[in-house]
Amino acid sequence: MVKPSKRKEMSSPIYVGREDDIKKLQRTTATVHGRQVVIFYHGGHFYALDCRCYHAGGPLHLGEIEEINGQSCIICPWHKYKITLNTGEGLYQAINPKEPSAVPKWKSKGEKQRTHRVTVDNGNVYVTLSDLMEYKESDYYAEKYKTEKIAEK
Ligand code: FES
Repeated sequence: MVKPSKRKEMSSPIYVGREDDIKKLQRTTATVHGRQVVIFYHGGHFYALDCRCYHAGGPLHLGEIEEINGQSCIICPWHKYKITLNTGEGLYQAINPKEPSAVPKWKSKGEKQRTHRVTVDNGNVYVTLSDLMEYKESDYYAEKYKTEKIAEK
């Protein structure tokens, strides 16, 4: 739990790079108020998420992006969990054995990975952390990796 005074301080936007550079690279990482964050530019939009996967702390900035069920998802390089860029939902495939066709359908596990707000001002990109009062599963790994350098491989 974050104290109210600390919450206010952590809600200020932090510069993470030039718009042109991030668009060219399509992703970058930054430390925002001590938190490892990955910023993606995909399909004409910016997204920011906690860098460490909610499952076991995998480095999401090293994953591939895929379109799943109409949503852009980052695929964690460690165990291939699928996480929507927009909302941080964990997706999985489920089969209803009572259905005769039994075709797997994509389902949501809920918002497991914390997402953050990205703003662009005069060619500069900023990330504002989301409200840390409501617990998300990726908070555990955000805290665990807080003092480490962001992995390059
Ligand atoms: Fe990301 Fe396991 S650590 S899928």
